[in-house]
Amino acid sequence: MYYQSADTNFTLYQGDSLKVLSQLNQQFDVIFADPPYFLSNGGKKIQGQRLISVDKGDWDKPISSDFVDEFNRKWIEACKPLLKHNGTIWVCGTFHNIYSVEKCLKDAGFQIINIITWQKSDPTPTWGDLHFNFSSEYIIWARKTPKSRHFFNIDLMTRLNGGILMPDVWKLPTVGMWEKRCGKHPTQKPLRLLYRIILASTRNGETILDPFAGSCTTGIAANLLGRKFVGIDQNREYLNLGIRRKTEIENDSCFLQMQKQIAENPEEVTVMVNHARKETKTKMIKTGICYLRAGESKGSLCVTPGFERLGYVLLHTGGEDCQLFKLKKNGCFQIWTKDTLEKFGFTPSHAAYYIVLKFDKNTMPSLQIANNVKQRINTYRPKIRPLSDFIDFQNT
Ligand SMILES: C[S@@+](CC[C@H](N)C(=O)[O-])C[C@H]1O[C@@H](n2cnc3c(N)ncnc32)[C@H](O)[C@@H]1O
Repeated sequence: MYYQSADTNFTLYQGDSLKVLSQLNQQFDVIFADPPYFLSNGGKKIQGQRLISVDKGDWDKPISSDFVDEFNRKWIEACKPLLKHNGTIWVCGTFHNIYSVEKCLKDAGFQIINIITWQKSDPTPTWGDLHFNFSSEYIIWARKTPKSRHFFNIDLMTRLNGGILMPDVWKLPTVGMWEKRCGKHPTQKPLRLLYRIILASTRNGETILDPFAGSCTTGIAANLLGRKFVGIDQNREYLNLGIRRKTEIENDSCFLQMQKQIAENPEEVTVMVNHARKETKTKMIKTGICYLRAGESKGSLCVTPGFERLGYVLLHTGGEDCQLFKLKKNGCFQIWTKDTLEKFGFTPSHAAYYIVLKFDKNTMPSLQIANNVKQRINTYRPKIRPLSDFIDFQNT
């Protein structure tokens, strides 16, 4: 063992994965692998005004297609016995390696569940005028055998996508500067990608193995979400970077800040948090209508960014009795006069115009509002928050 954190949730092995995998005698719930893509062939990309090499390191140089197949076959076969019967494996790639990975997975008896396309919302421009810009990567998700009953958190994935089952194309940004504070890895994955993968396929307290851990993005995301991590990499420098990242989140305020950041997605559905008096809240639920003052004063809401992505409204009475409702139409609101609201039995007395949202009267029962979120919603001022703010990581 190269390293184990004091909380024992973050364990690292240094060495050739093939060797280390054969020595592990633990069973894992999920394996996430970001192996060499074998794309370091002297290509170029544009960064700022400069043309720079895309080469990642000797470990990523393509030797031959037979070599790539052999490499993938060996590590995938070595991983299989370490995965629990109902476990799943995620493997990343581009066209350089993904077809080889897919074949090796099938040959080893895995069954493909999905192929996720990660569409980079901020791709680096690729150099050359003979092809489209490279802006996506693929992640194969497979279960151990066709008979395995794998875990998929469909409820959460649907909620994160505004009530519609999440598609297999994920638009997410590339790794941000805030993820590189402890140093850089040439092929570091964004924490937000791992956030979704981990929440989709694991339960709280489960353990994830990453046989090509690099800077340990998988481990950081896993620990931020209450999951355990075991990682392997042959490169000590990368593992040391991973240890620094783990040390960073051992600081409580840093942990909370990172936990919030990894959940943020510029594309995400939002929730309007609205305070209502007890009687008004009951009436709102009865009619499926929620309103708030249109204007600038206390208790009102300007139409701010995030409004167009509104999918839910959370009604509360001073931070208590929080109930989440789905809007009838995403992003849709109307401006009503005081008179119109009165016709629906309300008694608004603060303004002439109100923003009105119509919602489905059935509350979303599966929502667990984290305690730290509850404390922040005890306010009369309406707010727009990302839906992920309301997910209690300990209970998902
Ligand atoms: C694509 S990178 C993984 C990056 C990682 N997901 C992250 O976010 O930092 C692949 C990693 O595999 C490691 N690697 C390549 N061949 C290996 C082998 N045979 N055994 C162990 N590690 C290996 C490299 O050192 C590199 O860090």
